Amino acid sequence: MVPSSSMSIATILSVLLIYGQQVSEAQGVVIFDNCFRCICEAASGCNLTSGCDGPVCGPYRITWSYWADGGKLKLDGSPDSEAYPQCVNNPHCAVRTVQGYMDKFAQDCNGDGVINCDDYLRIHRLGGYGCTGPLDAKYEDTFKRCKETLRNLDS
Ligand SMILES: *[C@@H]1O[C@H](CO)[C@@H](O)[C@H](O)[C@H]1NC(C)=O
Repeated sequence: MVPSSSMSIATILSVLLIYGQQVSEAQGVVIFDNCFRCICEAASGCNLTSGCDGPVCGPYRITWSYWADGGKLKLDGSPDSEAYPQCVNNPHCAVRTVQGYMDKFAQDCNGDGVINCDDYLRIHRLGGYGCTGPLDAKYEDTFKRCKETLRNLDS
């Protein structure tokens, strides 16, 4: 069994290189890159080549309806029939989709008085209408370990 701390610094750094310092757009909620990275870790181990698996695609494991709510973004030249899988399998388009989804559904899911990455993780996993529900332990643990690792890298 691979130890849970196996999320490698190399993984994080490679994702950091891909996403840059801060991905958020000018309008809407401001989400910092560490948040995107740790949601990605929780969703798939941030596997950028994970492809589609049943109803979910890409490193963020995004469904068609999430992609639609996130703005139905498409890559240049993508045919309409391929717009969803091609977008959410592309790291940049996937992040913009997550951003679009959060712009739409940002809320204080855990009732702690602030809207931050802990809430975005819940919205990502549980959806915009059910984010107060329980998170599965593995998902939450992976996220927490990622945040801790990045905090240590930052300092
Ligand atoms: C990423 O996902 C693909 C498809 O499921 C899999 O073949 C590959 O081993 C995964 N890579 C890692 C690093 O887990």
